[in-house]
Amino acid sequence: MTQIIDGKKISKEIKDELKEKVSALAAEGIEKCLAVIQVGADPASSVYVNNKKKACEYIGIRSLAYELPAETTEEELLELIRELNGRADVDGMIVQLPLPAQINEERVLLAIDPAKDVDGFHPMSVGNLSIGRPGFVSCTPAGIIQLLKRSGIEISGKECVVIGRSNIVGKPMGMLLLRENGTVTICHSRTKDLRQVCKRADILVVAIGKPLFIDETYVKEGAVVIDVGIHRDENNKLCGDVDFERVAPHCSAITPVPGGVGPMTIAMLMSNCVFGPQ
Ligand code: GUN
Repeated sequence: MTQIIDGKKISKEIKDELKEKVSALAAEGIEKCLAVIQVGADPASSVYVNNKKKACEYIGIRSLAYELPAETTEEELLELIRELNGRADVDGMIVQLPLPAQINEERVLLAIDPAKDVDGFHPMSVGNLSIGRPGFVSCTPAGIIQLLKRSGIEISGKECVVIGRSNIVGKPMGMLLLRENGTVTICHSRTKDLRQVCKRADILVVAIGKPLFIDETYVKEGAVVIDVGIHRDENNKLCGDVDFERVAPHCSAITPVPGGVGPMTIAMLMSNCVFGPQ
């Protein structure tokens, strides 16, 4: 029987654990606070930002929402970041991406104090992860590790194949699987014979960004398949990078879309706020 990894349930467990931790901290007079900055009103960003605020409310984290107009200058945004860096009552901050064209994303991410970089996007956070020092870890890959661990899936010694090399998912995913003693291969658009490489995987993480790209011909019998993609198919139904119906019968475990990886990202953001750099 294929195990369907329930990200909704696991993310709820994590949020409930955090809620308990936050109330224990409150009893000691400690309050956690997350600043959420959005520039412009990209509809998808507004949904994400709203979900982050709601998660804070559920757990008991104070959230400060900064909704800046689309014409905000880079200097104005940097000024706000510097102010938040200096505030002792702010534990973490995120700047929702993408940013409007007049703002340089790299300069913005660099301006965030690494000690408050709960998204784990600052080069210092990325560097810490790659050399095994404590730091904030990008939330989606951190959430995937939790999905695997909390589903009883061993990573140590396994062939792990990641498709996608983005700074936010693919690269940190590779680093985290390596930290868990997996044998890691990262594939991308120039990988030769992607199918054969994927077929080696005991654990296949798919973050390719193409709807229903991975079918059963890419998957070894009994593999664990993690689908990071989220798209709408021709019937406006949500689907992932993996053709779930075709792949699931061949897996020992698989994440669905929706309800797999998606809910874990915000749970891990909240965890980063509560626990700090790990
Ligand atoms: N845009 C899409 N995903 C994310 C995320 O996890 N963090 C931020 N800051 N922006 C995003």
